[in-house]
Amino acid sequence: MSAAALKRAAAARAVDLVQDGMRLGLGTGSTAAIFVELLGARVRDGLSVVGVPTSEATHRAAEAAGIALTTLDETPELDLTVDGADEIDGQLRLIKGGGGALLREKIVAAASRRMVVIADGTKQVATLGRFPLPVEVVPFGLGATRRAVAQALARAGCPGEITLRTGPDGAAFLTDGGHLILDAHPGRIPDPEALAAALAALPGVVEHGLFLGLCTGAILAADESAGARLV
Ligand code: 5RP
Repeated sequence: MSAAALKRAAAARAVDLVQDGMRLGLGTGSTAAIFVELLGARVRDGLSVVGVPTSEATHRAAEAAGIALTTLDETPELDLTVDGADEIDGQLRLIKGGGGALLREKIVAAASRRMVVIADGTKQVATLGRFPLPVEVVPFGLGATRRAVAQALARAGCPGEITLRTGPDGAAFLTDGGHLILDAHPGRIPDPEALAAALAALPGVVEHGLFLGLCTGAILAADESAGARLV
């Protein structure tokens, strides 16, 4: 199966978890986009749900798919969030933010009773950190924040290069919240909890892409199963 087919298999399995009346968090990225598309088809068949999108892109896609939208102001507790991930380990710890939506994704996941990750099986890792870890920062004081992030990584036992994310036009990538993203390249993160605490304590850091204790299940599609399994 192609990567696209595996993502579709995972997304289709996740749609089966959705029940009438549910309040949903709608993730961001190519796999979450397939979920939104498939959910839209169910809505057109009569399923009644409301969704909170985790990005402007997902907002547009969900609207186009005919999914009723709400906000966390109107609906502060959600039943289920379905989102993609860049890496997932055996303890359902995640790296997210490859698409730059980590801040809203984390807020929405934290407001959800359940968060199910959908991904192709290549996202499963023994140790987090091969995928660059996004750190969302405010533009003010960028140089100082970047230095502090580097020090936090080194103290957590995973030093690595830090790059400022740029967009296709070569200019600095701006998140939906108007922030910048520093991508850290530690290679492996031996203690994700320690690193998460250190990054969260830094002035200038808005959020980081370590999602710890938020994911409650994962649907990882792999060739061998010719489908998708919930773990
Ligand atoms: C966006 C994300 C995405 O969920 C993550 O990058 C996975 O994306 P894809 O499904 O395209 O592989 O965290 O901020």
